[in-house]
Amino acid sequence: MAKKIIITGGAGFIGSHVVRLFVNKYPDYEIINLDKLTYAGNLANLTDIEDKPNYRFIKGDIVDQDFIHQLFKDENPDAVIHLAAESHVDRSIESPMDFIMTNIVGTVNLLNAAKAVWGDELADKRFYHVSTDEVYGSLGETGLFTEETPYDPRSPYSASKASSDHLVRAYYHTYNMPVVLSNCSNNYGSHQFPEKLIPLFINNIKNNKPLPVYGKGDNVRDWLWVNDHARAIDVIFHQGKTGETYNIGGHNEWKNIDLIKLLCNIMDKKLNREPGTSEKLITYVKDRAGHDKRYAIDATKLKNELGWEPSLQFEEGLEKTVDWYLENEEWLINVTSGEYQNYYEKQYHQR
Ligand code: NAD
Ligand code: TYD
Repeated sequence: MAKKIIITGGAGFIGSHVVRLFVNKYPDYEIINLDKLTYAGNLANLTDIEDKPNYRFIKGDIVDQDFIHQLFKDENPDAVIHLAAESHVDRSIESPMDFIMTNIVGTVNLLNAAKAVWGDELADKRFYHVSTDEVYGSLGETGLFTEETPYDPRSPYSASKASSDHLVRAYYHTYNMPVVLSNCSNNYGSHQFPEKLIPLFINNIKNNKPLPVYGKGDNVRDWLWVNDHARAIDVIFHQGKTGETYNIGGHNEWKNIDLIKLLCNIMDKKLNREPGTSEKLITYVKDRAGHDKRYAIDATKLKNELGWEPSLQFEEGLEKTVDWYLENEEWLINVTSGEYQNYYEKQYHQR
């Protein structure tokens, strides 16, 4: 059935992969990309699909209640896939308020606007909220996050995402809003803004800059290729049960320092440097405040119920990712000019 879908945050890292997948795979769907274009949003992420007849971009802020209500009235979408968010933990430690506004107030604005235009006509409607495993808090040496793990967020970012998840579920129970949610582990791949670990370190290695490893580098993350996340979102959007939550993960845990060393080896090869050259850039710096020790996802429910599994081995995905950043130098230079320099100075100057 043809659908009109508003995808929020479609100019960001994960959002651009989701928009691309939906625009290419579903030519009879109308895809509207709603994005404020913050520092993290970039229409250059979508140049390959921007002229497709089933795609439109609308610049707008999900925090702006009047604008969002008018937009939903004008467009009357069948579905929302909500990815827009402030997404970087370090920035949330520096400026929590932006996270409260976009991640919490913005999400409620979207829920209210959907509720206002959909009324009781909820058959075939869907509000898909995209969230993170960070809402579950921090694991010790063992164990995995399941959909039943109690929420225990530790950073302003994860607390704001947890809050938005609770509100989405509250709208399901209170107003029958036809919601579905997913909580995913750390993503990596092309088009990620170079403030997050992998693209930041690729850029620094390329430019022979220090690699700022927080604490001892022994924190653990579960990494998933962004295209696999986009595929999971496609599956959950179409086949997920209303009111349900699905965890998405890569079964791919890496201690930061081991991942960084692997990345250094790949970069040495790609840049024709002597083995061991890039590792010399590793610099241990002050730990992140409240740094979560370990995240790891149990994605059994998604596999058993909807048949989704990750497609790519990490080493292969990381190499593909490095290749993309090295082949897209102009993209990297564009996003790291201007405001990025101020952020970088502030974030790493005193560490
Ligand atoms: P991102 O920071 O790369 O992109 C966020 C996008 O949202 C940008 O295009 C930005 O312009 C837009 N945006 C921000 N504030 C907005 C506002 N007020 N109104 C409209 N648009 C706004 O983020 P990402 O890494 O692509 O994450 C996307 C979603 O996936 C987020 O909800 C995040 O919590 C979730 N998530 C991310 C990861 C990860 O590893 N990156 C893992 C799990 C879940
Ligand atoms: P990040 O990419 O910010 O994702 P998240 O905090 O959401 O997991 O960080 C991934 C891991 O890398 C995390 O344990 C913090 C660490 N890290 C560093 O050691 N140095 C850095 O400069 C950054 C950005 C992250």
